[in-house]
Amino acid sequence: MEQELKFSFINDHMIIDGCDTLKLAKQYGTPVYLMSKSIIDLNCQMFLEILKKEYPNSILSYASKAFCCKEMYRIIKNYGFSCDVVSGGELATALSANFGREKIFFHGNNKTISEIEYAIKNNVLNFIVDNDTEIENLLNCAKKIKNFHKKINIIVRVNPGIEAHTHEFVQTAKTDSKFGIDINNIETEKFILKIKEHDEFNFLGLHCHIGSQIFDKEPFVIATKKLCDFLIKLKQKYNIDVGLLNIGGGFGSWYTKKDKNLKKSDYKAFISAIAKELKNTVTRNNLIQPTLVIEPGRSIVAEAGFTLYTVGNIKEIKGIRKYVAIDGGMFENPRYIMYGAEYTAIKCEHTSTQQEKVTIVGKCCESGDCITKDAKVEKLNVGDIIAILSTGAYNYSMASNYNRNPIPPVVLLDKGKSKVIVKGQTYKDLIKYDR
Ligand code: LLP
Repeated sequence: MEQELKFSFINDHMIIDGCDTLKLAKQYGTPVYLMSKSIIDLNCQMFLEILKKEYPNSILSYASKAFCCKEMYRIIKNYGFSCDVVSGGELATALSANFGREKIFFHGNNKTISEIEYAIKNNVLNFIVDNDTEIENLLNCAKKIKNFHKKINIIVRVNPGIEAHTHEFVQTAKTDSKFGIDINNIETEKFILKIKEHDEFNFLGLHCHIGSQIFDKEPFVIATKKLCDFLIKLKQKYNIDVGLLNIGGGFGSWYTKKDKNLKKSDYKAFISAIAKELKNTVTRNNLIQPTLVIEPGRSIVAEAGFTLYTVGNIKEIKGIRKYVAIDGGMFENPRYIMYGAEYTAIKCEHTSTQQEKVTIVGKCCESGDCITKDAKVEKLNVGDIIAILSTGAYNYSMASNYNRNPIPPVVLLDKGKSKVIVKGQTYKDLIKYDR
């Protein structure tokens, strides 16, 4: 996405989605998560347009884990998206926002019995199944529910054995992975046959997700090819039609100058390559055309997010490093401590042309509590407000109360207007579960 679409400067104040960041900092306090509705809208529209053109028989399923709250479900609902949830908590949030039950896909490598029961009781019947035990659990849960006569839709998560070029922790389709069942193992074929034997189930199709923050199309193409080979095998060996193919999410987002700035044409190239592979396979082998599902999370919300902080103190260790401590840290953005992630920082009031290299650290009792290391920022002073860019994905959703810090509010910006969509926690909230 172009930087000028994300923010601008008017009278030396940083403006995001028509809102003055300095005023926002005053009104809502810091730290505060900001989400630009206009950027989320652009990303939603972009993926919808691309799919409509490249593969109309498709479903856009937002990966809730990237950023989950009621307002986010309302936004994507307006675009007709589906969504995936990976826990009873995400499911409860989607249901509380009146998200269409039939549009929810339940993911997870170890859904608990109570999560499965909760879903079925609420008529959430699309399950992305990761293993054998889950099939047994689903059958048992369905039997336990009185007068349950509906079919449970099953999508089998397969592991194609691919190493995407991304951080080891966000690779999900290597052979050595906790996710999915090995596509190359004969047991997987038997597993699908077993699902088809049960009247309680409706075998919908296959799923795979190769990882996150991926910038080239090659791993997506390889994954699609492997899935296509499997479609052919299922048809030729067992006469099984696969009605749905979910290729996951994982499309990269921009964080710093080191990242490729993916544009609509790049995302289009990813999806076009996937669609081409699939269409060719279907035509050449006389298969039914499966519905294609993609599950983007980060690429919908990451660049829509900005976190504002106040600089609390500055410590320079001559010849070594300059530390700038802010009033947040790993409790509302744990991505540095988890993945060594880097971010771009912008001073919200432009007063000097002088830039300096600083390491922005948090207020938690942990040396790894850092937001970004050695970043170039306009010269900062105590009391300045800074914005960290691209914090929309996996920040609020991975926040914790480490050191009993309250999780900040989330404020939605929309063309000059702002509103709280998630209230900030208070100290009272922090102790309310203590007995
Ligand atoms: N589908 C499945 C099955 C997934 O596991 C994920 C992400 C997605 C879709 C969405 O992927 P995305 O489009 O957001 O890349 N906490 C890490 C990212 C973990 C991603 C987990 N799965 C981070 O902060 O980088």
